[in-house]
Formats: sequence, structure tokens, C-alpha cells
Amino acid sequence: MTPAPAELQLLDLEPAASDFLAEAIAGLSSDPRTLPSKFFYDERGSELFQEICALPEYYVTRTETEILQQNIAAMAQSIGTGAELVGFGTGAGIKTRMLLECLEEPVAYVPVDISKQRLVQSAEELAIAMPHLEILPVCADYMQSMRLPTPARQPAHVAVYFPGSTIGNLEPATARGFLQRVCRLCAPSGGLLIGVDLQKPREILEAAYNDSAGVTAAFNLNLLVRANRELGADFALEQWQHRAIYNEIESRIEMHLISERAQTIHLGGHAFEFAAGEKIITEFSYKHTVAGFTALAESAGFQLSRTWTDPQQWFAVFHFTVPE
Ligand code: AVI
Repeated sequence: MTPAPAELQLLDLEPAASDFLAEAIAGLSSDPRTLPSKFFYDERGSELFQEICALPEYYVTRTETEILQQNIAAMAQSIGTGAELVGFGTGAGIKTRMLLECLEEPVAYVPVDISKQRLVQSAEELAIAMPHLEILPVCADYMQSMRLPTPARQPAHVAVYFPGSTIGNLEPATARGFLQRVCRLCAPSGGLLIGVDLQKPREILEAAYNDSAGVTAAFNLNLLVRANRELGADFALEQWQHRAIYNEIESRIEMHLISERAQTIHLGGHAFEFAAGEKIITEFSYKHTVAGFTALAESAGFQLSRTWTDPQQWFAVFHFTVPE
């Protein structure tokens, strides 16, 4: 029988709403000044990110998809039979669909997303495309610990899927804490399939984050549009410039918004003085090595099972398991 989308059972763990005002005031008061990247993804920001993923310079999405296309059977085999697949921020994306279609007897798919609307919509689409799969959407912040719903059939193990190199947006200590929680979720016999962007020449990295069509600039500046709309701030957009630079020492892309002149910004009853050329850091995107990321995951309790990369070694997909 084909389950109607209305039959989907949503587990709403009611993730705490992020406090944009408090985080913006704290970030703009710090040295260097920051605005957190998690606030990029309002409706317009999510649309712009979709556009980024299709840009010729943004090799990340294309390369990860190619690695999956080439190796999906081996990945499914590595995950094993009877898995409960838990997808972090995956929606009903093409990569997840490819994986689910190749897995041997998956017991259930548990998409986890902080946005209820995005979660329900993508779970409904997937329910239509894969009517025999049990889908148990969970509205939660996957950066926090969580309990998972119980599938109708007992899974052999839990397999977490975390594509897109979103792990790269976490600083190493935060990434380790996150991986430790994932490791507990996968214990005793499960694993983690994760996409990770790799180090490469500066020109390629900086072109990917300073695209010629200006989409990444619009994505970055949209944070100021959002602060004006939601927090009553008075950023004049034409006085801010997007810049992405590769910090080779830290192995990370840094997204900046540069003040083109000396100016005062008002936000939440505070006045922030900016010098000409002063920056707000909006995002870090860490670029790993295969050995470095393996060591990070091992320090969080995982053991390496397999890795897959593209011929240029620009991106890697890792499968880690939990040691017995
Ligand atoms: C979501 N994340 C993996 C993207 C990245 O590449 O770090 C976000 C992004 N920022 C600018 N372009 C893409």
C-alpha cells in the first residue's frame, strides 16, 4: 500500500529558536567582529545557497555528487544491511535518494532538520517517491544531543549521513564535540557517512567563494538585509563589500563583510563604530586533509572504514564505524 504523505509521523523536539538579536549584539561587540553563519538561511538565503551549489566555480556540490555516482554501491555495501539511515540536514536531496535506493533493506529513514517546513515538505516528497520506506522526520537541532524515533522494524544498526561538507563550517573543537555525539548515536554497531571538502590551491578556493556572478556576495550581504528587517538595524548595503579569503595557516575560507567607510551601525539599542576597511567575519569553511579529518574523527571515537575521493582529490566521502 502507498502511504499518503499525511500519514507521516513528525517527532517535534521543539529546537530552541536561535536568538538572532543576542547573538548579533555579542558578535558585533567582539574583536574581530562576527555575525554567525547559521543566520544565513532565511528564505532568501536558502534560495541563494541553492544557486551557489550550481555555480561553475563552486566545485563542492558537483564533486561530491560525482563521487557518490561513481561509488554509491560500495558506500551502500560499507553501510550494510538493515540500517536505520539518519540524515542530518539532507532533506529529500538527490544524494540521499541515491543512497536510499542502493541500501540493502533499509529499515527506516530519519531526516533531521531544524526547519519544520523544509523537513515536512521534503519528507512528503520522499514518501511519494519511495512509498515502501518508513520515514520518521525529526524536527531538531542536530548540533545538540537527541533521541531518535523507534522504527516499526528493529534496525541492525544506525547509519548517520551528513553530506555537503557542513562539518567544515564548524571550528575543529566544535566539530569534535559534534562527532562525539554522532558516535554515541551510532553505537554500538553503526557508522557515519560524511562528505568533507579538502585542501586545494588558493585560487580554486577563493574563486569558489568569490564567484563571478556575485551570488556568494548576495548570500553574504543577505545577512545584513536580514538584520535590518528582523532586528531593525540600519546597515546601508552599498557601504559593505563581500570578500572571501583563504587563511592558509588555519586551512579555512573566511567570509568577510568589509565596511567601505567609517560609519556607525545601530542595532538593538547599541551603536557600533566601524572604521573604513574594518571587517565582520560571517563564516569559516575549513578545508581538511584525508589524514587530518581521519584523526579528528578518531579522536571523537570513530574508526575509519573507507574513503572515496575524486581524481583531483578535491573532496572526500568518509565512512567511519564505531569500534567494538
Ligand atoms: C554549507 N557550507 C558547506 C557552505 C560552504 O561551502 O562552506 C556554505 C557556503 N558559504 C559560501 N558558499 C557556500
